[in-house]
Amino acid sequence: MELIDGKYIADTIKQEIAETVKQMMAEGKKQPHLAAILVGHDGGSETYVAHKVKACEQCGFKSTLIRYEADVTESELIETIEKLNSDTDIDGFIVQLPLPKHISEQKIIEAIDYRKDVDGFHPINVGRMSIGLPCYLSATPAGIIELLARYNINTKGANCVVLGRSNIVGKPVASLMMQKHNPGDATVTVCHSATKNIKEICSQADIIIAALGSPGFVTEDMVKEGAVIIDVGTTRVPDATRKSGFRLRGDVDFDNVAPKCSFITPVPGGVGPMTIVSLMKNTLLAAQHAIY
Ligand code: GUN
Repeated sequence: MELIDGKYIADTIKQEIAETVKQMMAEGKKQPHLAAILVGHDGGSETYVAHKVKACEQCGFKSTLIRYEADVTESELIETIEKLNSDTDIDGFIVQLPLPKHISEQKIIEAIDYRKDVDGFHPINVGRMSIGLPCYLSATPAGIIELLARYNINTKGANCVVLGRSNIVGKPVASLMMQKHNPGDATVTVCHSATKNIKEICSQADIIIAALGSPGFVTEDMVKEGAVIIDVGTTRVPDATRKSGFRLRGDVDFDNVAPKCSFITPVPGGVGPMTIVSLMKNTLLAAQHAIY
């Protein structure tokens, strides 16, 4: 069993990005600039955004954090998005999800200029991804593909089971895993809450990508000997031994599943750091006008 070290790969890529930025600035080009909008005080969102701001520093990017209280109106948010759309110093920006219930996430996503949509959530980027055109790939799926590539994991012809059908992870990663490309070229099955025989389907999988948000869902009896396991889950579970009072738990029963695998990602330190690095890659592409 080999542990997939997402933190190490992410640190390596951030160093590569920082080198490129140094070179760009030596050539007199502008510093890449990412903005993030954070609404409310959700603990998970606060942590993610803090990590994104720190990653910007490590990559040599400028970052701007715009905060709103949870009672901000949809039209106030859209006004800010329109300002960011036309601000020539901002290369790309994100609105951290989830948003409070009174705001339509889809309306917000569609208000973002797709050329600055470094999260890759705008329907134009999603559509371009699904037909294999250059676009901003959404961060978690792109991070998973990068890990498979850097560990030379063969995906061609593999049975890949994706657990979860979210717009952010399940659907796009399924689409990328079946693209005519390496990594990709897999036979993909997507399982979700209405799937009848998940255990049976998983036990045939060469690769399982678990993105359900259900701690410990994937158990030893669901995993084939030698399978590759990618765990996207990051649920906060109470842990009195931690200062924070919680720890992150993945969708895979790691201790029992790991001995059966050829490769497995840990939680934390697997997919999570790669997600942030994918956002940094998209921001660099935006600053270079490499896609649009
Ligand atoms: N919430 C959970 N994951 C993400 C992400 O990748 N981007 C944004 N904007 N919000 C998220």
